[in-house]
Amino acid sequence: MKIENNISLKQYNTFGIDVTAKRFVSIDSVYQLQQLLKIEKDIFLISGGSNMLLTKDIEKLVVHINIKGISIDRENKNDIYITVNAGENWHDFVLWCVSENYGGIENLSLIPGNVGTCPIQNIGAYGVEVKDTITKVEALDIETGKLVQFSNTECNFGYRNSIFKNEAKGKYILTSVSFQLTKTKHNLNSSYGAIEAELTSKNITNPSLKNISEAVIAIRESKLPDPKKIGNSGSFFKNPVIAKSQFLELQKEYPNVPSYIVSDTEIKVPAGWLIEQAGFKGKRFGNYGVHEKQALVLVNYEHATGEEIYQLAEKIKETIFKKFRISLEIEVNIIT
Ligand code: EPU
Repeated sequence: MKIENNISLKQYNTFGIDVTAKRFVSIDSVYQLQQLLKIEKDIFLISGGSNMLLTKDIEKLVVHINIKGISIDRENKNDIYITVNAGENWHDFVLWCVSENYGGIENLSLIPGNVGTCPIQNIGAYGVEVKDTITKVEALDIETGKLVQFSNTECNFGYRNSIFKNEAKGKYILTSVSFQLTKTKHNLNSSYGAIEAELTSKNITNPSLKNISEAVIAIRESKLPDPKKIGNSGSFFKNPVIAKSQFLELQKEYPNVPSYIVSDTEIKVPAGWLIEQAGFKGKRFGNYGVHEKQALVLVNYEHATGEEIYQLAEKIKETIFKKFRISLEIEVNIIT
């Protein structure tokens, strides 16, 4: 465990924002983390850096969670129980599961970030949320330095939400996540329009986990920018949920507005559609802008500052509110 000074965080965040950590340490075991917490508790955590927008240099000690390792806890004829340490790359874990024929997370292929942060915003895509496979999350209590466990229910998962974004925020460091995956009788989820279309185009009628994973990868690659090439944090905003009455008004003016029913009284509207209607899709403002193929994604072409991207997000929010009377909520963690 070596504390380094003045380290650029550019390679540690998928937006590729070049801010400096005054002090930086990479941690590769729970024991190291416990030792560190004995001397310093006021820390700034970074893992895959895929859901954050850094707007300035970090004064606190930056702790990079790099705890690796995957272990199989138990298995029976139908299911396997696996614990994955926080620093494992999410997509590599998905690919490994697909290659071993363990089902449940194939729809979540190619999502950037690490396993340890997947429960925080309950990552989700193409009809699946990670909460459906998580059995337990283990975390270090920063105050006591002790390991604690959260059951699936205790995580209080919701749409892009969990206890770790609410009452538990800032109190714990997630060290591992346990999953229950299927070995047989996979519960395949290929009904999402884009997946169905991709499989049909390949004449696949009875898809395997691999077919679904490959379809998701193809869809994501066609719509979402690769963070290694263009800095981004995926969906910058959540899809807003509005009252059905407001939705019906909106539909009168825009008969083609896409929507998902949330309840008898509430409808979810894609933020990407709203942003596109407001004319921001594909708009470039020098070093940063709105992705040309998915308006929900803000991008750092090169050398943008976090503040510039944040100001663009605020401008988008303001415009959407003026045009539609809908408040967009930022999904990405803004570090100010
Ligand atoms: N749409 C537009 N213009 C756009 C983008 C989308 O009109 O620029 C429309 C599409 O035509 C479609 C609808 O909006 O009718 C939904 O689009 P899409 O299927 O691309 O999904 P999304 O609602 O924009 C959500 C997640 C994504 C996830 C996809 C697929 C959120 C905030 N985002 O996006 O998650 O990959 O569904 O399941 O819920 C992420 O969180 O980083 C992320 C990429």
